Amino acid sequence: MSEAIKWVEKDPLKKNVFWPTKAMKERAWVSDESIYAEAKADPEGFWARQAEELHWFKHWDKAYEFAPQNYKWFIGGKLNLSYNSLDRHIEAGHGDRIALIWEPEPVDEEAVKLTYKELHRLVSKLANVLKGLGVQKGDRVGIYLPMISEAVIAMQACARIGAPHSVVFSAFSPDSLRDRMIDAGAKVLITADGYYRRGKAINLKKSADAGAEGTPVEKVVVVKRLDGNVPMNAGRDLWYHELIEGVSAECPAEQMDSEDLAFLLYTSGTTGKPKGIMHTTGGYAVQSYITAKWDFDLHEGDIYWCTADVGWITGHTYINYGPLMNGVTSVMYEGAPDVPDCGRMWAIIEEHKITQLYTAPTAIRMFLKWGDEWPSKYDLSSLRLLGTVGEPINIGAWLWYFERIGGGRCPIIDTWWQTESGATLVNNLPGIGPFIPTVAGRPFPGVIGRILDAGGSPVPAGEGGYLSIFSPFPPALTRGIYGDMERFKVQYFSDYGPERYYTSDGARVDEMGNVRITGRVDDVMNVAGHRLATAEVESALAQSDKVSEVAVVSRPHDIKGEVPVAFVLLKSGVERSDEIRKELIKTVDSIIGPTARPDEIIFVDDVPKTRSGKIMRRILKALVRNEPVGDLTTLQNPGSVDHLKEMVGYSG
Ligand code: PRX
Repeated sequence: MSEAIKWVEKDPLKKNVFWPTKAMKERAWVSDESIYAEAKADPEGFWARQAEELHWFKHWDKAYEFAPQNYKWFIGGKLNLSYNSLDRHIEAGHGDRIALIWEPEPVDEEAVKLTYKELHRLVSKLANVLKGLGVQKGDRVGIYLPMISEAVIAMQACARIGAPHSVVFSAFSPDSLRDRMIDAGAKVLITADGYYRRGKAINLKKSADAGAEGTPVEKVVVVKRLDGNVPMNAGRDLWYHELIEGVSAECPAEQMDSEDLAFLLYTSGTTGKPKGIMHTTGGYAVQSYITAKWDFDLHEGDIYWCTADVGWITGHTYINYGPLMNGVTSVMYEGAPDVPDCGRMWAIIEEHKITQLYTAPTAIRMFLKWGDEWPSKYDLSSLRLLGTVGEPINIGAWLWYFERIGGGRCPIIDTWWQTESGATLVNNLPGIGPFIPTVAGRPFPGVIGRILDAGGSPVPAGEGGYLSIFSPFPPALTRGIYGDMERFKVQYFSDYGPERYYTSDGARVDEMGNVRITGRVDDVMNVAGHRLATAEVESALAQSDKVSEVAVVSRPHDIKGEVPVAFVLLKSGVERSDEIRKELIKTVDSIIGPTARPDEIIFVDDVPKTRSGKIMRRILKALVRNEPVGDLTTLQNPGSVDHLKEMVGYSG
């Protein structure tokens, strides 16, 4: 066993600052501080050097070019994400290494292991199937799949033929699927009959059918994960296993331009309408590859497990492209962490000898609550590194993760990034450190991150401000919002201008340059690691014919980080009741999905409004958090606040 990470105890205030072990320093790809200065002096050169590690059909002519909302990387270069994920390793003689381990939820089912060669074969076959269905380079393909290996196969197949995928989280509702398929203009959708979740067979095909209705989708490829006993729409629906049977396994990877669209991924903004974040091929490939390698210390033979869902950016970059481009084994688990019992996570780590675990604070808090007895039953000594992502982590969860799961020897890499960034932006590196609870760390080498005040001036160390990323932008940064470049400009480049990307996150920095993320500064919530706009939940609730007005705010939650709380004014004549509450929850389930369910629905007579009639969510937020409500003099109806204080049991 490697030596324990040292505590720095000289300064009691900094007692929780950890440094890499000697073993980690020796093994890590980078362990010398100088990487930061070197990358800072020439960010373009830095990224270009990393890009050289990938396979290019044609080398780029120029590394970076900037124009407002039109920045480009690796201009003139040609490459393919799937080629870099699969063919590159096979050509190097590593085709028999395991690329993917898929662990089904039912314990009586065997895990499936696919080598790089086998994955390559399945990906090539599906790529040919898609071509046969008329999918051409540039055509968008919808993917609505659960956590099964076919989700990775489908993304890779799309990448292989240059058809941008648009993956929709499988727990999202049919309405969410429909909106995304329409916006993306997808003619083909890949889905499954269902999957297992908490021992129950979930029918996904039913949701896919409802969601495909009224969209451009003409063909639906259905993976048989369950018994296949679902209605098939003649002429539209086709079984995946039948399609791949008779098709060739030869499908040369399409030579994609660096700036060709690789995929769309919809995420929440501040309005009710999710935005299709665009990622292009070259920059995304380079940053996904190198961040996966350096952040998670990926080496030959590693068995790396990212517990995110493939429906989120974390799943795209750190289950699929990042680890596969590095040639390691990526683990996927289908189901819930408490099936058959609360030890499942640790059982999987022991069984597959996982070397790196990347998960979310919300999950860590849940494991902590379940108690030490679960992890202590298993051998977790294969773990070398731990990662966290998605929301700020609290110190208690960090220390528990570090001591109980990492045995005090594994660094915790707290990665801050976003759907828009495509890959990690701020986190300390395993061979350099330090690892400090609640602190993500320094921007990745080559990333220029600054904390600014509202006017755009950098704030001094220790003071709060807004995190901004400066040009030369990191290569994987989004190139736009699909079909809405105006929104792209307004959302990210109106605050500080075109050369400073606005992240919507608050942060502070210490004298050493370590960044602590304090959370979103807009109306975007982080519910159990799922990004959600309060406006989305509001517009879902407002679709009920019982509701006259609604306001949604977030409230802190012990496990989930944040949860939505809804203030609802019912239409006159509608009685307040638990029945109506249930009905409203159902409405949210059917319009967005269960992840967006309000934790509480409070029926009220009135909500505070400005004189111009705008709901003052700031006050509602203070009320549910027991914080000072501030100035009420500009309200149209200040009396509403007293009434609300009673309703929520306000004691602030
Ligand atoms: O507020 C930040 C939070 O998650 C937001 C991005 O959400 P999404 O696009 O869904 O991507 C999540 C996975 C990358 C950010 O604006 N966030 C993400 N990682 C962290 C975080 N907050 C604090 N610490 C993190 N490590």
